[in-house]
Amino acid sequence: MAGLRAVIHGLHTKLGTVFTISIFGVKKVTFLVGPEAIPHFFQGSESEISQSNMYKITVPVFGQGVMYDVDLTTRSRQISFCIDAIKPMNLRSLVDAMAQEVEDYFAQWGQHGVVDLKHEIAHLILLITSRCLLGKHIRDNMFDQVAPLFNELFDNSFYLISFFFPHLPIPPHDRRDKYRAKLGDIIHEVVRSRRSSGLSENDVLQRLIESNTSNGRPLTESEIAGILVALVVAGQHTSSSNSIWTGACMLSDGGRNHMAAAMEEQKEIIGRHGERLDYCILQEMVTLHCCIKEALRLHPS
Ligand code: HEM
Repeated sequence: MAGLRAVIHGLHTKLGTVFTISIFGVKKVTFLVGPEAIPHFFQGSESEISQSNMYKITVPVFGQGVMYDVDLTTRSRQISFCIDAIKPMNLRSLVDAMAQEVEDYFAQWGQHGVVDLKHEIAHLILLITSRCLLGKHIRDNMFDQVAPLFNELFDNSFYLISFFFPHLPIPPHDRRDKYRAKLGDIIHEVVRSRRSSGLSENDVLQRLIESNTSNGRPLTESEIAGILVALVVAGQHTSSSNSIWTGACMLSDGGRNHMAAAMEEQKEIIGRHGERLDYCILQEMVTLHCCIKEALRLHPS
């Protein structure tokens, strides 16, 4: 991967923001790099940019019977569960849990020192993801077991060759399948235990347990695990990449004024609301939101 990355970086420097390379002599891959080129990707029509072929890569990651392994009607229903789970109305009730994770995490930091922002933020987002999506039980009791599985699953799943041959028997794919199976076992067990105890929690897992397919049957353990893994993969790296870039941009020389403005805004909001945080108060952080959105424009996940 590192070798390929260096080649791509070299071509980008030499050829500019849009270039095509031939991979393994059989496939052409076009790169769109940077904020000027990227809109063509996000706004391309279905005939120019087709999602479904490329997303076959996700089948071994998310699991069988979900998302890009099922017909469009079933997939749309499953995606509607995901979209429902992250609607503002449902996220509101998770703000306390998110804020608690953030406070506990930064409470471990001292007043001075050097950190690797990429590592720290990615870890913090995974803590939040675990708490809000997988639930309190997994977050409190099994995070050390689950976090490396998700990290390894991601690291071994998205090689360039995987886009073309997702089931090619290569060592990373073997590892991917092993880690995915372990995650499945853990989630199945939690679903079984919640269903048998009748306990209800405030998390996305619970909403999936209580959801029905279009035929009116409850989701199976394996469908729930697949949709949850899809949500973690969809949410974790996008959110951490965006948070890391926001931090990096604001800490850079060019971002100093924006950092000062965001800090001023925080002070003003704390002045009015105290340390309390809820969804509506987050909406008042207009300057911070603009910084996040600009980092997203410059460095889309
Ligand atoms: C900064 C954070 C995020 C960014 C930049 C982002 C970006 C995107 C983009 C570009 C797509 C469209 C992908 C495509 O059509 O190929 C997408 C879809 C999706 N994202 Fe996110 N996402 C973020 C956070 C999240 C989070 C936190 C979750 C859930 C926990 C999530 C769940 C989903 C789902 C379920 C879809 C599929 C929706 C559909 O196909 O209609 N995303 N996201």
